[in-house]
Amino acid sequence: MNQSSSITNPLREGINARGAPEPCVLVIFGATGDLTKRKLVPALYNLAHEGQLPASFAIVGFARSERDEAAFRAELCDWVKKKSRFSPVNDSVLDAMASRIFFQQGRYDDPQAYQALASRLNQIDKDLGTAWHRLFYIATPPSEFPVISEQLGANGLVTRPQPGSTEPPLQRVIVEKPFGHSLETARELNAVLTRVFDERQILRIDHYLGKETVQNIMVLRFANEIFEPLWNAKYVDHVQITVAESLGVEGRGGYYEGAGAMRDMLQNHMMQLLALVAMEPPTSLEPEGIRDEKVKVLRAIRPIASDRACGCSLRGQYARGSMMGQEVPGYLDEKGVARDSLTETYVALKLHIDNWRWAGVPFYLRTGKRLPKQTAEIAIQFKAPPAVLFAAQSNRRAATTLQPNVLVLRIQPDEGISIRMNAKVPGTALNIQPVKMDFDYGGTFGARSPDAYERLLFDAINGDSTLFIRGDETEHAWSIVDAVLQGWKNDPQGAPAYPYESGTWGPPEADEFIRRDGREWRRT
Ligand code: BG6
Repeated sequence: MNQSSSITNPLREGINARGAPEPCVLVIFGATGDLTKRKLVPALYNLAHEGQLPASFAIVGFARSERDEAAFRAELCDWVKKKSRFSPVNDSVLDAMASRIFFQQGRYDDPQAYQALASRLNQIDKDLGTAWHRLFYIATPPSEFPVISEQLGANGLVTRPQPGSTEPPLQRVIVEKPFGHSLETARELNAVLTRVFDERQILRIDHYLGKETVQNIMVLRFANEIFEPLWNAKYVDHVQITVAESLGVEGRGGYYEGAGAMRDMLQNHMMQLLALVAMEPPTSLEPEGIRDEKVKVLRAIRPIASDRACGCSLRGQYARGSMMGQEVPGYLDEKGVARDSLTETYVALKLHIDNWRWAGVPFYLRTGKRLPKQTAEIAIQFKAPPAVLFAAQSNRRAATTLQPNVLVLRIQPDEGISIRMNAKVPGTALNIQPVKMDFDYGGTFGARSPDAYERLLFDAINGDSTLFIRGDETEHAWSIVDAVLQGWKNDPQGAPAYPYESGTWGPPEADEFIRRDGREWRRT
């Protein structure tokens, strides 16, 4: 029989003494957008389906465009049916949830709209007993983040906890990505948010942290004895973090032009993966303890001088090509993209972490769109074993080459963990062959994992900030990325956006980039 030990985080602030989540109203700004339909509301339904929402819970959608409330509800219910991981949905659960979905139209900079929102929320408090417990989810384009935050403060919708108070805050805000466009703008946004909210009230979202496999990084490292002794420069040759996407920019050319792979994927998702894989063990599961360790490791990343950026990074851009037998356009032919754009759809970056554990171990990060497949993984490549014992065999006819061990954490889609090791091929000759020991989530745990947003919304409702990014964390990640972006800008000739055919593993120059160090990208 499978035995699992369950550890719940005792520091969830929103959970009351009975262990039940506090009543709560979720206000979504940008409620008519894609995120609400495709991700947020289906995730909330999944939580409701599993009985994990507070008994008193309501959703208020806030958006600029006018919507009939009944039509808004009906549209969201259709999306739930399309996107929920439960099929068919439970009609009575969905109807109950729908009856508590409301819509409020208003401009984001209009104080009257916030007054109207406040009256609506007061009424809901009276009807449902939600007692000022509010979660504001800012899911608008980033240009609106500051004004919404300021208006919430100015119109009395936010009460800051008293300094030093250990009481759970009544209101919290979730801020979507992108969090800033540069180090400077991220700082400005942090400043605006912290004028209105206490840091304890701010939940900066990175949906990668909600993925089961990402949460498992800490469990793998710190709930097992066998890995941690090897998790350092003495045994590890290098680490490769890959997030490959087969999709292109999918109609988001306008947004992507101003972002590129560096801002869209690397500054947030990939830096978080790096932090979790490289950090020291925290002293407890307390959110600040974990976030302190992540910050420590981000701070230890060797700063990149802008004039050295081209040597430790490489950018590429997809050209037309073929994906699964279908012709696809190049990036420059996508809607909303400038014909002479240098925006990168591929990036490779080499980082060093200057601390005791990782001295001399390069971390290679790469991400790109229109690569041959959709996959994300972290590969810890160990040093080659001493060749002394089997050296003689390698010169014989039945040649033996000892491959280094590799531990691969497969983040998605084929979630699992594998270890590559060497084994003797059965027979009278001494032939050695690399083999794979594999754990896969699906085979072991069966059920489909909850979507990342489901976990993150659950935690936000329950006041657990562990899987959200702290202000200083995002700034440290930005400082690395900013230096590279600045280097590219200063020397566009030194950092061309190398074209690569859609459906290939990035520009040929990216292979050369890692080969210079005597290493190869993994073929995932
Ligand atoms: C988003 C990016 O944050 O992450 C998208 O804006 C990207 O460009 C997406 O496609 C990838 O997320 P996932 O969960 O599909 O790996």
